[in-house]
Amino acid sequence: MKFIDKLKDIEKIAVKDISDSSNIEELENARVKYLGRKGIVTDAFKGIKSVPKKDKPEAGAFINKLKQKITILIEEKEKSFKSKESAVFENNDITLPGIKRELGHVHPLVKTTQEIIEIFGKMGFKAVESPEIETEYYNFEALNIPKNHPSRETFHTFYIENGNLLRSQTSTSQIRVMEKEKPPIQVIHAGKVYRPDAVDASHSFMFYQIEGFMVDKGIQFSDLKGVLERFAKEYFGDNVKMRFRPHFFPFTEPSAEVDISCFICQGKGCRVCSYKGWLEVLGSGMINPRVFEFVKIDPAVYTGFAFGMGVDRICMLKYGIDDIRLLYENDVRFLKQF
Ligand code: DAH
Repeated sequence: MKFIDKLKDIEKIAVKDISDSSNIEELENARVKYLGRKGIVTDAFKGIKSVPKKDKPEAGAFINKLKQKITILIEEKEKSFKSKESAVFENNDITLPGIKRELGHVHPLVKTTQEIIEIFGKMGFKAVESPEIETEYYNFEALNIPKNHPSRETFHTFYIENGNLLRSQTSTSQIRVMEKEKPPIQVIHAGKVYRPDAVDASHSFMFYQIEGFMVDKGIQFSDLKGVLERFAKEYFGDNVKMRFRPHFFPFTEPSAEVDISCFICQGKGCRVCSYKGWLEVLGSGMINPRVFEFVKIDPAVYTGFAFGMGVDRICMLKYGIDDIRLLYENDVRFLKQF
């Protein structure tokens, strides 16, 4: 190949490299590649030595022109980058206000949980965690729920492999804590529970509960009343009234369901309380001596109370939410309101 033809090839490739470079760095690389100290054009100048004498003037002139051409192309390309940059800057009105980034916030269920835990925390209850995957022993047996109890059936409890289940109540934490700790015990526990319920406005296959209990010498039903009343007033307001209705739970004896006077209508009767004036908010009672036997706490020495509430229900009552599904769909238009 003749030297002059090599130069023509170099020219073609150089023009393409320069026009292909899409930013200042790429353009600088092209400059170094052709015009740098060890660049292709610089190299070509040295190659003239080996060109036959008669072709030298033509080759020399060509290289000089090539160098000029490349230099000019690079300068022009550089200018075009700079003018684009300044165009971007000029089209931005820097006096416009900035774009406000929206801050997220806690989910209403988390907020409700935190507020409730905080109130009990101030009364000396220690927050604990407890497993969501449980055995029949912790979910039923040690809580004195008999073998034939309907809640044990598969349409009330999610059974999984190896005889495990998804806990259907946070009362499991009573057993988990009491088998490890000795009284005095004063514990509050929030967590998810699972039940194979068909989903509708008031049912979900997963929801949240808060369990609390206190065990020591001389704990009485009046302690339970005092603690729950303090909670209800702090959370729902000072005017709220409370009533205990006798009930049955296998793990407490005696047991009671607890209502508060409707804080929407002050007990007069409205849509939220189904015109009863009262809202059921939790289950409670004195810990059944049989439960104490399972965890090897002597029921002749110690007594205790326990209570459990549905966080979703309390959250829905507090904020006037009429469909539990709203709490799990994570529609930002809903969540933004809290
Ligand atoms: N575990 C019960 C439930 O899921 C709620 C409950 C009732 C908890 C009474 C208690 C209690 O600690 O004493 O329906």
